[in-house]
Amino acid sequence: MTTVDLHVREAGGGLPVLLLHAFPLSSAMWLEQRNNLADSCRVITPDLRGFGGSKLGRDEPSLDHMADDVAALLDGLSVDTVVLGGLSMGGYVAMAFLRRHPGRVRALLLADTKAGADPEPAREKRERIAATLLEEESPRVLVDEVLPTLVGETTRREQPLVQGRVRALVEAAPPAAAAWAQRAMAARPESLGTLADADVPALVVLGEEDEISSRAEADAMVEALPQGRLAVVPRAGHLTAVEAPDEFSSAVRSLLAG
Ligand code: MLT
Repeated sequence: MTTVDLHVREAGGGLPVLLLHAFPLSSAMWLEQRNNLADSCRVITPDLRGFGGSKLGRDEPSLDHMADDVAALLDGLSVDTVVLGGLSMGGYVAMAFLRRHPGRVRALLLADTKAGADPEPAREKRERIAATLLEEESPRVLVDEVLPTLVGETTRREQPLVQGRVRALVEAAPPAAAAWAQRAMAARPESLGTLADADVPALVVLGEEDEISSRAEADAMVEALPQGRLAVVPRAGHLTAVEAPDEFSSAVRSLLAG
């Protein structure tokens, strides 16, 4: 299996905290966490393959490749173990990383994500979006079908600058990378067993207004994780780290304190 060299943005020093971004965004979504957390840890935020400054490579779509890219990045940084965090797609990649490199995770943060595999209608939708992205060579379908539910009702009403920033990030998504990631997410396995084996401090974060990941899915992850606990972020939707950055960073700090 080949790996792709990941472009990475970093801040701070000390305990390594690796944060994996959502679909179809990039490490740019972690701007506030790099600023907020740099005084207490080393924040490492890569662009997953195909997004931001990272190349896509030529492998078949699989989140395992993204997880192995991250492991290779850590090798290159001479970092052995990390506090691993991922939001939504980043959470799926974190679960793949846990499956493939379990000894390298010292604590876990899973935000606005789920351990379940996609049901058939969701897989079909992903394939339709992937085919449209490749045919149109444009992120238009992401703006029309993915963007509307990325942030919550309160953010849509009260934070136009955040809404605009998220729109710009979606518009910047390379169509080929987004298509590849849709197919990789469609192929991901169920991961509750992986979480049951992860006996490390673990925090599941959910935006109260998340329209993509449900409370039931968050509860299932908390229940599976031997040391799992839940933090619900009020007035935030799916992109908790972007919509409520201070609350999100406090949640990270509480995990680090543990
Ligand atoms: C994300 O925010 O990364 C996506 O909602 C993940 C997904 O499409 O399941």
